[in-house]
Amino acid sequence: MGNVTQYCCIYRCGMSGVKTPVPKRDDSRMTNLTTKEWAAALDIQYHNSDHATWKALYEKRLQKLVFVGSEAYLSGLQVIRLDSEQIPNLDRLSERLRQVCGWSITPVSGFLPSKVFFECLSCKAFPCTTVIRKPSEFAYTPAPDVFHDVFGHIPMYWHCQFRDFVHQLGQIACNLRSEKELELLAKVYWYTVEFGLVNEPRGIRVYGSGLISSEAETEMALSPDCSRRSFDLREIAERDIAHDKLQRVLYVIDSFEQLASISSELKRHSNGSTWIM
Ligand SMILES: [Fe+2]
Repeated sequence: MGNVTQYCCIYRCGMSGVKTPVPKRDDSRMTNLTTKEWAAALDIQYHNSDHATWKALYEKRLQKLVFVGSEAYLSGLQVIRLDSEQIPNLDRLSERLRQVCGWSITPVSGFLPSKVFFECLSCKAFPCTTVIRKPSEFAYTPAPDVFHDVFGHIPMYWHCQFRDFVHQLGQIACNLRSEKELELLAKVYWYTVEFGLVNEPRGIRVYGSGLISSEAETEMALSPDCSRRSFDLREIAERDIAHDKLQRVLYVIDSFEQLASISSELKRHSNGSTWIM
């Protein structure tokens, strides 16, 4: 199934030069699949209990997010109009997203290699996991699921400066020369898109999807046990990412306008002879 995922993503984006293992399948059948056909290829079958998990997560997170969520996220949630009762149909949601901002959704079954992931972003295709967490992972799951990807990520894409930033990261990744450079981009993505905090008139608010979609991560992020620091590219370059633990060091941007200067700095370095690390 993982191979099908990578295969679908590459073809959905119209990529041809990505070196990724692909299954031996008839190429012509996979190049123009609708998301519905992909769902069949990826064997997506949700049960009532999966929809119940989505509904319960949605209601519980929203109760908290009205107090701690970024205005940008909350506005996006209204614009995108996610279904609160059941796991959204990704085909229809992708179409809605395309109308709102020109991005689309690419269904995947799990983690993608960083290079492939960023290349999807470079062509404005957001890779979206299709599985949903188990009830035992209600407050926290180390691996992304459809709740994290849809509820956590998608509403932010209505925000012009945010989605431009993500697109820029994708484009920078396409021109990188080494794994080390790709590693830095992944760290920047982690501390912004996944776990970013922003200063707003009401105080520090969460906008990163890992925080938006997780009760445990949000509680830690806003607690005295988390070190909340001003965004610092050089410091982030030195920091390791822990995928399977609650985040105890996070970075705060002053506003979403700051994202443009972060991507400009990254671009300057990737075009020049020196790199940050
Ligand atoms: Fe994510």
